[in-house]
Amino acid sequence: MRVIEKNSYEEMSALCAGILGAQVLIKPDCVLGLATGSSPIGAYERLVRQGEEGLLDFSRVRTVNLDEYCGLSGEDPQSYRYFMEEQLFSKINIKKENTHLPDGCAADMEAECAHYERLVSSLGVDLQLLGIGHNGHIGFNEPAGDFPSKVHRVALAESTIKANSRLFARVEDVPTQAVTMGIGTIMKAKKILLIAGPDKEAILHEALEGPITPQVPASVLQLHPDVTVIFSRK
Ligand code: F6R
Repeated sequence: MRVIEKNSYEEMSALCAGILGAQVLIKPDCVLGLATGSSPIGAYERLVRQGEEGLLDFSRVRTVNLDEYCGLSGEDPQSYRYFMEEQLFSKINIKKENTHLPDGCAADMEAECAHYERLVSSLGVDLQLLGIGHNGHIGFNEPAGDFPSKVHRVALAESTIKANSRLFARVEDVPTQAVTMGIGTIMKAKKILLIAGPDKEAILHEALEGPITPQVPASVLQLHPDVTVIFSRK
């Protein structure tokens, strides 16, 4: 595991975009695993800029996102599909049909989870980008009694609902369930890139140096052969 410390969000974002961009240059038809949240916004901005400048071509790139809220359609501004369209997909030359997120509104959620698991496995993720929750979650794998292996529906932890309520008018509006890649799904990625800001210092320390336990889901990354962590001190 490589841990790289940076002095600002801008520096962290620049390096993160550099690594994602290098992946696209090395393998133009690569599969990127993507995350939402505050952490990757700066990196996505930089990828958009590099696309506009003709430095990156996304026309053959495929993407799979980690997760989606249950009950929100892609047209809902709070959905992760909407976030990805706003922050990245609509601003680069990626084909919409090559961008994938779980369908949070699927009538049969069990079938949707099985379908998304098959999709991610069959595409094969070259590089998975992750953020980390204050409770150590990755994707929406919350602290639990075991490491969930596959895509599944999950009840969000109170602390996650509270953290994510900053993006909603009222805390009651935050969906209480989500569909997420499982820990097993995430661990199948060839390479993993985790980015975290200064507010994540304590949990990052626990995840990277503490015992490997499903109570700190990100601790499982200690078992992955190719993880890069970028931590920004400020
Ligand atoms: C987002 C996701 C979450 C976030 C995590 C950190 O798709 O799966 O695990 O990465 O909650 O969120 P931020 O970056 O907003 O602190």
